[in-house]
Amino acid sequence: MDFYDVVRKRRSYRFYKPDMPEKVKIDNILEAARLAPTWANLQGVHYIVVQEPENVKAIWRAIDQSEKFIEAPMFIVGTISEEYSGERGIKYYPVDFGICFEHLILAATAEGLATCWIGYFNEKEIKQILKIPKKYKVLGITPLGYPVKPKGEVRNRKPIEEIVHYEKF
Ligand SMILES: Cc1cc2nc3c(=O)[nH]c(=O)nc-3n(C[C@H](O)[C@H](O)[C@H](O)COP(=O)(O)O)c2cc1C
Repeated sequence: MDFYDVVRKRRSYRFYKPDMPEKVKIDNILEAARLAPTWANLQGVHYIVVQEPENVKAIWRAIDQSEKFIEAPMFIVGTISEEYSGERGIKYYPVDFGICFEHLILAATAEGLATCWIGYFNEKEIKQILKIPKKYKVLGITPLGYPVKPKGEVRNRKPIEEIVHYEKF
């Protein structure tokens, strides 16, 4: 898929068919995340692929967003420790994380799969379920699968004149 088609087609999907995505697609998506740029190339982000039905259910419960994501066949949980990134006035680990996770999400779109960046969840519970070491922070989770109902392209965005400035703010 052309890059700009991918960007236009990426939407947040909250309702999934129960079918598990093909392994080759999951591998491609993880490879796209692996190739993302990070501070000093420290590559601090880890991805936990959750497919065992018992674990998937436990993650769904820890996300605790009512019926959303209830049928998702799997989740990918992203985590990073701030020591595996840099600091110059601001800490860059959330930046590294955001770049890597968006690579993953766009690659999923290119593979014809649905995702939803989930930022609200019970982090303590997620860490317990997945045995994530204390120093790591869980900064994002996405379901991965096929959507119940495909959405149209992204539309509801601010006009370009409102957000782009030439030379000065
Ligand atoms: C950092 C971040 C956290 C988000 N957290 C949630 C969430 O917890 N639950 C949810 O349903 N959607 C979540 N979203 C999805 C946004 O609501 C969604 O991207 C936005 O409304 C634009 O819609 P679109 O993704 O379909 O273009 C999150 C998105 C981002 C980038």
